[in-house]
Amino acid sequence: MQSIYDYPTLKAFSAELDRALDPQGRLLQSDSQADGTAIKQDRHYSEDAKNLASKLPNSFPSVNGGSERPLIVLLTGATGFLGAYILRDLLSRSSSVHHVIAHVRAKDAATASARVEQTCAAYGIWGSDWKSRLECIAGDLDKPNLGLSADMWSRLATEVDVIIHNGARVHWVTPYQNLRAANVLSTMAAIELASKEKPKQVVFVSSTAVFEGEHYNKMSDESMAAGGRGILETDDLTASTQSLATGYGQSKWTSEFLLRESGKRGLSGTIVRPGYILGDSIAGSEFCHCCRKVFVQ
Ligand SMILES: NC(=O)c1ccc[n+]([C@@H]2O[C@H](COP(=O)([O-])OP(=O)(O)OC[C@H]3O[C@@H](n4cnc5c(N)ncnc54)[C@H](OP(=O)(O)O)[C@@H]3O)[C@@H](O)[C@H]2O)c1
Repeated sequence: MQSIYDYPTLKAFSAELDRALDPQGRLLQSDSQADGTAIKQDRHYSEDAKNLASKLPNSFPSVNGGSERPLIVLLTGATGFLGAYILRDLLSRSSSVHHVIAHVRAKDAATASARVEQTCAAYGIWGSDWKSRLECIAGDLDKPNLGLSADMWSRLATEVDVIIHNGARVHWVTPYQNLRAANVLSTMAAIELASKEKPKQVVFVSSTAVFEGEHYNKMSDESMAAGGRGILETDDLTASTQSLATGYGQSKWTSEFLLRESGKRGLSGTIVRPGYILGDSIAGSEFCHCCRKVFVQ
C-alpha cells in the first residue's frame, strides 16, 4: 500500500511495480524505472513548514473574551460536503451568528451563490430563508490572498470576526507540492488575514491524517489496550515531523504547525480534526470523493 503513496502517478506506480518484480533490472527497460523514481513523494514538508513560519506575522490583534454581538463568519469550502453542513449549522444560530461570508471557487459572486445553493439543495439542506444572512464571494484557494481582490481582502480584514478555514483539496494520493497552494498557502493567507485590522479567531479544519505513522498508531493502540488517555490535545505533533507518507497528511500537518506557531504570537482559534466523514446520518446523503457525486439513499 505504501508504494501507492510514494509513487502517486500511474506511470510512477507502474514503474515501481516493474522494479519490485524485477529488482535487478534484468527483464525490463531501465528508462521506465528512472521516470518512476523521479516522481517519488518526498518528506520535506517539515522544512517547508519552518521556512513558511519565518514569514508569519509577528503579532495579532487580541480577541478579548467572548463577543456579545452576533459574529460575522468567513467560511471556506462551503460547496464541499462538510462545508455545506457547517454552513447550515452556522445559519441555524441566529443569535450568535450575524451572517456568513462563503468563499467559493467561482468566476463571480452570482456563480458562487448559485454553486452553494445547488450543493446544499442536492444534500437536501438548503434553507429558503438563508439568503438574507449569506453572502457568497468568488475566490480561489490556489491563488495568493485566497484569490480575492485587494478591496475584498481589506473589507474582510475590517469586518470578519471568525475565519473557518474548511476548504481544501481533499486527495489522498496527490503529492505535497501539488496540494501546497490550496491547502498550505491558503492557511498562511487565512493567518495573514487574521493579523489585520479587526481581531479574529481562526478555526482550522484539519484531519486525523496528521497522526499517520507508527508513533501515534502505537500510542492509540497501547493506550486503548491499557485504558490510557490516548493522544492528548496538547500534543504538538512533533512525532509526525518526518513520518507522514501522504501529501494530504503532510499539507494538514504543515498548516497545523503554522497555526500553532501563530498561536505563540497571539493568534487565537481552534484546530479541529474530524474523523472519516461518511454521510448524513439522518438523510442518508453522502458524497463520493472518487467520482465527485452526491448519493441520496
Ligand atoms: N472527508 C473526510 O472524511 C474528512 C475527514 C477529516 C477532515 N476532512 C477535512 O474537512 C474539510 C472538508 O472536507 P470535505 O470532505 O467536505 O471535502 P470536499 O467535499 O472535497 O470539499 C472541499 C471544499 O474545498 C473547496 N476547495 C478545494 N480547492 C479549492 C480552491 N482551489 N479554491 C476554492 N475552494 C476550494 C471545494 O470547492 P469546489 O467545490 O470548488 O471543489 C469544496 O468546497 C477539508 O479540510 C478536509 O481536509 C475531511
